[in-house]
Amino acid sequence: MNDKQRVAYSAAQHVKNGMIVGLGTGSTANYFIEELARRCSEDSLRIQTVASSVVSTIKAQQLGLPLLAMEHVNRLDLYVDGADEVAPDMTLLKGQGYDLVREKLLAKACDSFLVLIDASKRVKRIGQNFPVPIEVMPFAWRLVQRSVATIGGHGTLRQTANQDGLAVTSHGSLVLDVVFESNIDGKTLNERLNAIPGIVEHGIFSGLTRAVFCGHDGQVDEEWA
Ligand code: A5P
Repeated sequence: MNDKQRVAYSAAQHVKNGMIVGLGTGSTANYFIEELARRCSEDSLRIQTVASSVVSTIKAQQLGLPLLAMEHVNRLDLYVDGADEVAPDMTLLKGQGYDLVREKLLAKACDSFLVLIDASKRVKRIGQNFPVPIEVMPFAWRLVQRSVATIGGHGTLRQTANQDGLAVTSHGSLVLDVVFESNIDGKTLNERLNAIPGIVEHGIFSGLTRAVFCGHDGQVDEEWA
């Protein structure tokens, strides 16, 4: 078992009968989905799930997990997902994938958001290792790029993997990947980005984390807010 599998296994032990559980996206979230499916078939766990992306929908379907469409729920008990960066105050950076809008909706709608990482995801400040992904309405990208520049961010449009087109999210937005030069903290940045029109959503998750499960050297550290 690697560190990602270990944190996924630990988080899955928090799932109880009758819960509505949000399924994250990424390699760690995939391990969680697999462990959840195992518990449903071997431990007779009875739950319903809501997926944060097309990829996690397909994964859940393949494993036979009962899925609810997001438009059919107004709350969840638990949401379990990975992250790209975790700051000491549990602010997160997410959204290197294409489903940031759904991920943040689930993080906000759940009673408890559990974040699964290995030690490489811990940072001193948000934006340390990755640019901040900002989903923009396609017609607004230049205006948003300029607004972001006024708060110290340098944004470039994300390209497809083979650099022959622009990346489009599953929500139909373009993505500005923004590097912030200053040491502005994640919480402040979250507030400033929330105030810019034309931004559909951005990758800073502030005040949403209930617990961080961090795998390192064969152990799992749980940190609860
Ligand atoms: C998806 O948009 C991201 O927010 C993921 O949660 C993040 O990239 C974590 O992925 P891994 O679990 O594969 O590291």
